[in-house]
Amino acid sequence: MQTQANKLQELVSLKNSKRTKNTKYIAITSGKGGVGKSTISANMANILAKNGYKVGLFDADIGLANLDVILKVSIDKNILHVLKGEASLGEIIVPVKKNLILIPGESGDEILKFNDQFLYERFLDEASILDELDFLIIDTGAGIGGHTQLFLEASDEVIVVTIPDPAAITDAYATIKITAKVKNTIHLILNMTKSAKEANIIYEKISKVAMANIDNLNLNLLGSLSDDKIVAKSIKQRTLFSDDAPNSTVTLEMKKITSNLIYKLERKVLDSSKDRGFGNFIKSLIDKF
Ligand SMILES: Nc1ncnc2c1ncn2[C@@H]1O[C@H](COP(=O)(O)OP(=O)(O)O)[C@@H](O)[C@H]1O
Ligand SMILES: [Mg+2]
Repeated sequence: MQTQANKLQELVSLKNSKRTKNTKYIAITSGKGGVGKSTISANMANILAKNGYKVGLFDADIGLANLDVILKVSIDKNILHVLKGEASLGEIIVPVKKNLILIPGESGDEILKFNDQFLYERFLDEASILDELDFLIIDTGAGIGGHTQLFLEASDEVIVVTIPDPAAITDAYATIKITAKVKNTIHLILNMTKSAKEANIIYEKISKVAMANIDNLNLNLLGSLSDDKIVAKSIKQRTLFSDDAPNSTVTLEMKKITSNLIYKLERKVLDSSKDRGFGNFIKSLIDKF
């Protein structure tokens, strides 16, 4: 056991010295389902890809599948097959469009129970093909269940999505409270709002309660998205609203949210000591489990 761990460590440090990995891991989560996580993940990824960034979308909520549906691609195997040695990472990756790929995940805890050292080493080796990504956006499941929390912890940035509905806000707050144990900055997106004013009122409300009850938390409002029928229409026809309606209010809002996030990231000093590869991202999940 010890020697295997050492071997893995060696392997990781070897990889570290070979290349610098600057992939940013962005987790998009929520307290309640149906608030727009997948819609936002896909459209944020699309906007980044259109701006020349190399983007991966990791669907960690595949049980309730949707990124493949939203992006109009079909998937066969997922990350679990790779960890089991039944497929290579290259085989499960789905190219969506220029600069954008989809990595089908797995919703249960099964990937986290997976710890075959030999297959993991192979996986780590294969995962280096993802090192060229600028962003890996992780569409997590809703709620504060065990595995979702691990994804949040392993990510560089966590974005909590909520809608104005009081029950959703309560659940978003619960997610913020738990995530604050592992992240000092948490980003917030208010979706399906009637106006920017409504968004600000809700943000102030959440922020006030958070400041009173959570230590050392910087709750950053990335922006809001209007409730717009173009969004539902695009979902139905399996297209992206940021492609269908590039000049619509909701696309402009989504662009603003995306550029706010990039601005925040650029101001943050990179932690160069951390191995940022995808293999190591998965390893950190398994290790914490
Ligand atoms: N800004 C919006 N305006 C109108 N409808 C929206 C908006 N955002 C999301 N929706 C709709 O809400 C539903 C749930 O969105 P989805 O992204 O699947 O949520 P989640 O991934 O959080 O479960 C979808 O049918 C989508 O069309
Ligand atoms: Mg979803």
